[in-house]
Amino acid sequence: PSAKSRPTTLKSESLEPHRMHAEGKVLTTDQGIPISDTDNSLKAGVRGPTLLEDFHFREKLMRFDHERIPERVVHARGAGAHGYFQVYKSLEKYTQARFLTDPSLRTPVFVRFSTVGGSRGSADTVRDVRGFATKFYTEEGNFDLVGNNIPVFFIQDGIKFPDFVHAVKPEPHNEIPQASSAHDSLWDFVSLVPETTHMVMWLMSDRAIPRSFRMMEGFGVHTFRLVNAAGKATLVKFHWKPLLGNHALAWDEAQKLSGKDPDFHRRDLWESIEKGDFPEYELGLQLIPEGDELKYGFDLLDATKLLPEELVPVQRVGKLTLNRNPDNFFAETEQVAFCVANVVPGIDFTNDPLMQARLFSYLDTQLTRLGGPNFAELPINKPVCPVTNHQQDGFGRQAIPTSRANYHPNTLGGGCPVLANPASAFRHFQERVEGHKIRARSGSFSDHFSQATLFYRSLSKPEQEHLVAALEFEIGKVERVEIRERVVNQILVNVDPELAVRVARAVGVTPPKVSKPPKPPKAAGKKGAPSVEASP
Ligand code: HEM
Repeated sequence: PSAKSRPTTLKSESLEPHRMHAEGKVLTTDQGIPISDTDNSLKAGVRGPTLLEDFHFREKLMRFDHERIPERVVHARGAGAHGYFQVYKSLEKYTQARFLTDPSLRTPVFVRFSTVGGSRGSADTVRDVRGFATKFYTEEGNFDLVGNNIPVFFIQDGIKFPDFVHAVKPEPHNEIPQASSAHDSLWDFVSLVPETTHMVMWLMSDRAIPRSFRMMEGFGVHTFRLVNAAGKATLVKFHWKPLLGNHALAWDEAQKLSGKDPDFHRRDLWESIEKGDFPEYELGLQLIPEGDELKYGFDLLDATKLLPEELVPVQRVGKLTLNRNPDNFFAETEQVAFCVANVVPGIDFTNDPLMQARLFSYLDTQLTRLGGPNFAELPINKPVCPVTNHQQDGFGRQAIPTSRANYHPNTLGGGCPVLANPASAFRHFQERVEGHKIRARSGSFSDHFSQATLFYRSLSKPEQEHLVAALEFEIGKVERVEIRERVVNQILVNVDPELAVRVARAVGVTPPKVSKPPKPPKAAGKKGAPSVEASP
């Protein structure tokens, strides 16, 4: 489609005043001064030194010198698209969020897909988790669903995130390897932290080499809460189901593509949208009554567990359509700032300790990445609804508050915002909590292997073969033999002893002794009040 006929949403229309349409216009400085020669600096004599007063030369170099900003600390490589979301029928029974209760509403969205470990210029088709982050620009403010294409996570408590990411990213002494799961530090960490096992099995499966961003699922991972107008909460797991289905590359294809077309996924997304072949995903919900956190034999607050669809089916409640490429990669895809803490009335958090850490971390990192506290005013991040508050100043402030008073309460008035009606305001769900301050892990988080076994055994034979080959490839590259030993004899053996024996043989370590037949996967944990595992 031509630029004019490209689909728009309220959000993409709101970006129009910020777009620079330069065709046929005169070249100017940032101050709007017309420039007729941008090839020669101003000199004292044609062979003489450049003069300090050449404001065009200084401005051009200064702007170039400062083009780079820090890449994201994780998920640095990504590709984004605009689109919209529409709910099929009202979910008012569960939530007051208007974008989920009014089927006539088309809520604008911006989605960013990403890899996790590689730097901004790394290849698309590496073995890695994919980010699937969606910003819904609702009438009641921005809701960000910051998910991945794998339904579980590596760790249970966000305090371990820096350790985990340090282990995954290139090693600090030589920055090797770029974007790879084959190195000592990752497998060292995995062998010492068994809670990673379930996610590692997904990482070694075909899920970690998707064929296309258009052909992979998305997951909110954590258990969230929906809250209706009467204040009643329902626990929820969010899913994105691609209408094209789930498809993977073969490992050999993925490796070749990394060399031949490192932009494979980015190009596929861009081209399909340009052609009008719009990627579509259905929003799926698993709804769980409040109070049932421990009913399924594991803890719904534990992000290393998924809720099997056989136990709680996924209800498809609406559709996401991506129909417009960004105009400018940096302004939109790079500057977009997702945050798990961005929720609207009717959606709330839970006490998942991984989620709790994320509520802090995104806002914090974006202060550095986007250069100060005003990044919510960047065009791509700005809500489509009014933003009115007493926030003041800071680098790069865009809004021009017109009121004399910038504090609450005040009697000077004159253009100050008033407090919202509690019925339409965000109200935190009044969950009852009690307990002693304690640095510990709940006993309900202690089964690290049952779901890993369940996952492995749920795969078809060819999928299992792919997984075994991936383990052999990745672990085979680990230099320290004791790390390979630990992965096989302390982790894999607990998933499936035969799997451990096969991998052991392939990577040259002593195979575990398999005397008993493999234990069938059991439901994890015990029902009832969780015990406490460790209290230093
Ligand atoms: C970035 C997902 C866990 C910190 C991202 C992005 C996604 C994502 C999709 C990319 C956002 C974008 O496209 O801009 C997840 C999921 C997690 C998880 C699904 C687990 C369920 C964590 C944890 C932390 C964390 C535990 C910290 C405690 C970050 C940071 C960024 C990031 C700092 C960079 C954000 C930015 O620079 O804008 N994450 N993440 N993540 N994540 Fe996570």
